[in-house]
Amino acid sequence: MGLLPEIKNRFSVRHFKNVPLDPEKLSRILEAGRLAPSAKNRQPWRFLVVDDPEIKSKISSAAYGQQHVQDAGAVIVACSTNIEYIMPNGQPAYPIDITFAVSFMMLQAEKEGYGSCIVTMFNENTVHNILTLPYSMRVVIMLAVGEKDEEPTHTDRKPTSQVISFNHW
Ligand SMILES: Cc1cc2nc3c(=O)[nH]c(=O)nc-3n(C[C@H](O)[C@H](O)[C@H](O)COP(=O)(O)O)c2cc1C
Repeated sequence: MGLLPEIKNRFSVRHFKNVPLDPEKLSRILEAGRLAPSAKNRQPWRFLVVDDPEIKSKISSAAYGQQHVQDAGAVIVACSTNIEYIMPNGQPAYPIDITFAVSFMMLQAEKEGYGSCIVTMFNENTVHNILTLPYSMRVVIMLAVGEKDEEPTHTDRKPTSQVISFNHW
């Protein structure tokens, strides 16, 4: 079975109980991100945990008032410390690196019994200012994590036949 139960159970949680996260669970979630792979093992990331209600509220405003950002126990703001590395395939590494780390954290959050939601709808400059980030850093993704306050709703996926093929298109 491996990780499939966590992968199947996970869904984007947009209603959280506004309660703090358990520090040990949070630390395992962050550890999952820290251990994620990155291109050339550059680890071009920094994860800022926003659990202060006042700062969370500002971040929620910067995310156009998304209530789940306000109500999450913590919002993990995943930033890139270096955006320069272009991989041999010609594509920038940093959004992919950050996405791997956030994916790992998301699955660990599920394992810990928490819900999570990826948040990309935010004003990057505003978040940058709120968190006093160095000029060169980019805010790539935020992950809202917290105690679920809703029933699971699983969205559909395209069928295997449409998304997977072997050897030829
Ligand atoms: C790159 C990316 C950006 C997303 N941005 C947001 C967002 O800003 N706000 C939000 O509520 N959900 C966001 N989501 C969540 C998606 O809407 C959600 O994953 C998708 O509809 C599938 O639903 P599920 O996660 O419940 O399986 C984002 C997901 C991804 C992968």
